[in-house]
Amino acid sequence: PSHLGIKNGRLHIGGHDCTALAAAYGTPLYVTDLDRIAGNFRRFRAALAAHYPETQVLFAAKANGNLTVIRTLAAEGAGADVFSSGELELALRAGMKPERLLFNGSSKSPADLALAVETGVRLSVDSIEELRQLNAVAAEAGRTAAIAFRVNPALEVPTHPKIATGLKTSKFGIPAEEIVAAYAEALAAEHIEPVGIHCHIGSQILEVEPFARAAGVMVRVAREITDIGVNLEFIDIGGGLGIPYHHDTDPAPTPEEYAAAVMPVFLQGIRECGIDPALWVEPGRWLVGDSSVLLVGVNSVKRAHRTFVNVDAGFNLLVRPAMYDSYHEVVVADRADAAADGTYTVAGPICETGDLLAQDRELPAPKAGDTIAVLDAGAYGFAMSSQYNSRPRCAEVAVRGGKHAIMRRAERLDDLTATMETPDWTA
Ligand code: LLP
Repeated sequence: PSHLGIKNGRLHIGGHDCTALAAAYGTPLYVTDLDRIAGNFRRFRAALAAHYPETQVLFAAKANGNLTVIRTLAAEGAGADVFSSGELELALRAGMKPERLLFNGSSKSPADLALAVETGVRLSVDSIEELRQLNAVAAEAGRTAAIAFRVNPALEVPTHPKIATGLKTSKFGIPAEEIVAAYAEALAAEHIEPVGIHCHIGSQILEVEPFARAAGVMVRVAREITDIGVNLEFIDIGGGLGIPYHHDTDPAPTPEEYAAAVMPVFLQGIRECGIDPALWVEPGRWLVGDSSVLLVGVNSVKRAHRTFVNVDAGFNLLVRPAMYDSYHEVVVADRADAAADGTYTVAGPICETGDLLAQDRELPAPKAGDTIAVLDAGAYGFAMSSQYNSRPRCAEVAVRGGKHAIMRRAERLDDLTATMETPDWTA
């Protein structure tokens, strides 16, 4: 990727020397290139808008919940797919317009529904029971809620089973055969206005064909519900386009290839229906995944069954390798163009065997004090971090042009206990 490079033997991100950033801010440290995010967004939107100008890109805020990141996307004109009241608040604070937000989720609480109604965002409704609850909440508030239903497209997709969301057996969405009845009920509900349809088939998908199939399901549903009188304002085909975590070998489709597969199906479908709804898409990973590196410091190296490079962050700060067996490239940032001299396993500090960030990689001998960069950590990286083993979370630094600055301070030891209470009868 063009925002990463090697200068004077050191890894740079957005023109900034990773070794120097690690020295200035300390490790572990997330570093995010905001220009890369803006560039990714522009490219993704342009690829679709070239086929159909009425395309709206909603950032899947679960991928990266940093306010500066969301503001950067808001400034580019992005909306957001929000999956909780917290993500909704973040998107609004980042300056996104309510009409560009979709409140998703298969298990919304009464408070979530009330906040959605109050802020006037559209909702993706995941069940008939939720529809009835929402109608009651909207009635109470004297409002009308604009909704889509989440359709379960019953599609097998080539990705890790934990992140394939459109399977018939997954917890998400309403089966396609029940969808017409759901819209009929929504049309009849006094405080509901059905305006969209929504699906999401899964994440980190490295083929375009499943997206085209999903678009096919969506336009079929669009036709059926248009026939019963739904006035479709948008069709949201979700996110899920994968990125090449294996830089040299993953066959990652480009947004242009994605658009070329999806748009003919979408355009022909809406033409046949005689409607012109906006197309909404919800990429998360593609917009932010490659924008960040996680810089970790080497504490020690141990030659055992394998050679372990013990670093100062593990699945507390990047859970993807432990949770999904995900692959992330690692680079010894201080000697980024040195020849590899052996095979190393990068191990985190958490007291679990599975706490390995990278296994059996060819690297130039890492040593204590080195900085190692874990690449493509911008999506579901910090967002899924925890304080497990009572480790305060690290800082996040933004870079843009010649500038760098903290966009989230590191937690301190005091932050670990800040929300705890000690009732006087307990000790
Ligand atoms: N829309 C909906 C309704 C979603 O559930 C998701 C992701 C997205 C959009 C964005 O998908 P993306 O474009 O980022 O693939 N933690 C996992 C990924 C979980 C994805 C959950 N849903 C990982 O680290 O791979």
